[in-house]
Amino acid sequence: VDLYDRPDVYAALRAPQPEIPERICALARAHVRGEVRKVLDPACGPANWLLPMAQRGYFVAGNDLSPSMVRAARVALAGHDAEIARGDMRDLRLASAPFDLAIEVSGTSGLMLERRDLLAHLRSVASVLRSGGLFLMMVFTRDSGPVPSAWESGEIPLPDGGLASVRYEVMSRVDHTGVERIRRTVRTHGVQDCPPQFAEEYSVRTWTWRELHSLVAEVPEFRLGTVLDDDLLHPIDEPAFADRPEVVAMLHRV
Ligand SMILES: C[S@@+](CC[C@H](N)C(=O)[O-])C[C@H]1O[C@@H](n2cnc3c(N)ncnc32)[C@H](O)[C@@H]1O
Repeated sequence: VDLYDRPDVYAALRAPQPEIPERICALARAHVRGEVRKVLDPACGPANWLLPMAQRGYFVAGNDLSPSMVRAARVALAGHDAEIARGDMRDLRLASAPFDLAIEVSGTSGLMLERRDLLAHLRSVASVLRSGGLFLMMVFTRDSGPVPSAWESGEIPLPDGGLASVRYEVMSRVDHTGVERIRRTVRTHGVQDCPPQFAEEYSVRTWTWRELHSLVAEVPEFRLGTVLDDDLLHPIDEPAFADRPEVVAMLHRV
């Protein structure tokens, strides 16, 4: 079992903190030139981030590679003004483009291990954002935290019954490539058709402050603005960058 094959479990475990969508709206109001009507999530999963935006009256568009996530996003957004497409975040094709705001605040960019893949993603998002628009992109930083290290959620109830929890372990880190090996273990109780425990290992790419700046400099359609903490509240400067496992970069569509 892969967590992405269980959108119901994923949606519960990775639900946004309730205050974050409102902060995204405030950033959009402050930083998008002109009206904000259409919002894109280029790797939307089960629409965890799009649903609160749709509920606030925005048109939302989502894209995801996984058929089960695409199905789950369509169910979650039924009755809302939305487009959900199956595709690669490095080659977005959405009939409802262009968008005013794009959000990828759950760390999916970390799955792109090669610089050229993240560049292709940035170029693709730029191609579907209008001038004056904003892309909020989470990146993992080359942080100085201990390895190995672990973080575990509490037990979270699922809407259809049962409980789930998740544990993330950073197993190893290779400083010169910026790649971290992560093990994710999901435990469930009483969730229909779900094993009580399943684990996966995957790699994520981390970035230094300089690497992030040089990456964005290669995409002239974007200007790198303020880098924020993952609560979307505080600006992060170069010295603070490596003290945080992840940050959110504000990319302004020129
Ligand atoms: C960390 S989840 C984020 C989902 C969503 N933003 C959320 O928080 O609910 C990662 C999602 O990215 C999708 N994904 C991974 N690689 C992708 C790619 N190259 N193109 C599009 N989607 C991708 C996965 O299928 C999964 O649904």
